[in-house]
Amino acid sequence: MRPDLIQAALKSAQGVGTPLWLYEAEPIRQRVAQVSAFDCVRYAQKANSNTHILRLLRAMGVMVDAVSLGEIERALRAGYEPGTDRNEIVFTADIIDEATLARVVELGIPVNCGSPDMVRQVGHAKRGHPVWLRLNPGFGHGHNRKTNTGGPSSKHGIWHEEFEDSLRLVDEFGLTLVGLHMHIGSGVDYGHLHRVCDSMLDMVRRANRPLEAISAGGGLSVPYRDGEPEIDIAEYHAAWNETRREAERITGGPIRLELEPGRYLVGNAGLLVAEVRAVKQVADKHFVLIDAGFSDLARPIIYGSHHDICFVTPSGVPVAGPTHPLAVAGPLCESGDVFTQKDGGYVEFRDLPLPAVGDLAILRDTGAYGAAMSSNYNTRPLAPEVMLDGGALTLIRKRQPLEQLLDLEEGGGTL
Ligand code: LLP
Repeated sequence: MRPDLIQAALKSAQGVGTPLWLYEAEPIRQRVAQVSAFDCVRYAQKANSNTHILRLLRAMGVMVDAVSLGEIERALRAGYEPGTDRNEIVFTADIIDEATLARVVELGIPVNCGSPDMVRQVGHAKRGHPVWLRLNPGFGHGHNRKTNTGGPSSKHGIWHEEFEDSLRLVDEFGLTLVGLHMHIGSGVDYGHLHRVCDSMLDMVRRANRPLEAISAGGGLSVPYRDGEPEIDIAEYHAAWNETRREAERITGGPIRLELEPGRYLVGNAGLLVAEVRAVKQVADKHFVLIDAGFSDLARPIIYGSHHDICFVTPSGVPVAGPTHPLAVAGPLCESGDVFTQKDGGYVEFRDLPLPAVGDLAILRDTGAYGAAMSSNYNTRPLAPEVMLDGGALTLIRKRQPLEQLLDLEEGGGTL
């Protein structure tokens, strides 16, 4: 790891304690530049919705996707401007509740509908409201079965056979169809690329009407291990751009090509910094217990995801020496609270140099679906977030005060 990053981790730990999330602005900017060939990059903020990250992205012209009322409010707080004539915020979810429906109508935020029922609900709320249709083409992919959002086992999107019914509902309620959208999973599989593009064109033909935009969804993968290849973004864009051109030939008008990445923009730009609190021998192996758990980073326990881990001493020297088979685990009262796991939930012992109590454990590539998926399990407050930009460290979210958690349980009254 870069020495300046180690210094930033140490300084942050001294400033706000551990565990903490540390993000870097520069790699996020570089990622945005890498996808700039798309007409519109719409950040899937579920990956990391800190308002400072949203502001950073907005300053670079990146639009935003929201999946809940909370994410709409975050986007507004970050300065995104809603409105039917603007393209800044789109609401994409599989259901829309009444409170959110009222808010999107009030603000004129286009709704990307994931079911015919959702089209009907938007139609009842406001004639003429702009909608997208999110389609499940009948197949999908993902780095894990749980991140596959297409095919017959997926709850997401409008099943392709219900597309015509959904179009009829759009017309019946006088809704404005902005575009068609496909997000068939997180963790791109190139094998599906041309199939998705062909399927999009099939839908464009079946829509048989002018469209303002098509969206390729998100799903672009990032390397999580040293030497893992980067996705060829130029090739990815070329396939979608050709699809857009063909779609324009079909509809006879210009079509905007949107991309909706989450992980790609922020995944490699974050670290989880924790402290080693115990090192114990179990049979012929070691467990290194740190003060972060799956309440902080849930990806290993949910998907068996791999995150590289390194240890540094309190003076900033990477721990070196002979390696031992060791597992890195957290403080939670669950056997699955282990950061080194294989898919299927088995503890993985990695050969790493043994750290000492007081060293820092740094878990890499945790910028996406890290803090965003944290919980308060075991009554652990949410960890603080720090941003490193041009050498300066800024606290962009404070540690959640314990009182805030406990206070919610007081004075509720009877119903
Ligand atoms: N668009 C839609 C409609 C989505 O549902 C998602 C992610 C994205 C875009 C962004 O996907 P990305 O570019 O980040 O792959 N928690 C899992 C990932 C779940 C993804 C959920 N939807 C993980 O930690 O790997």
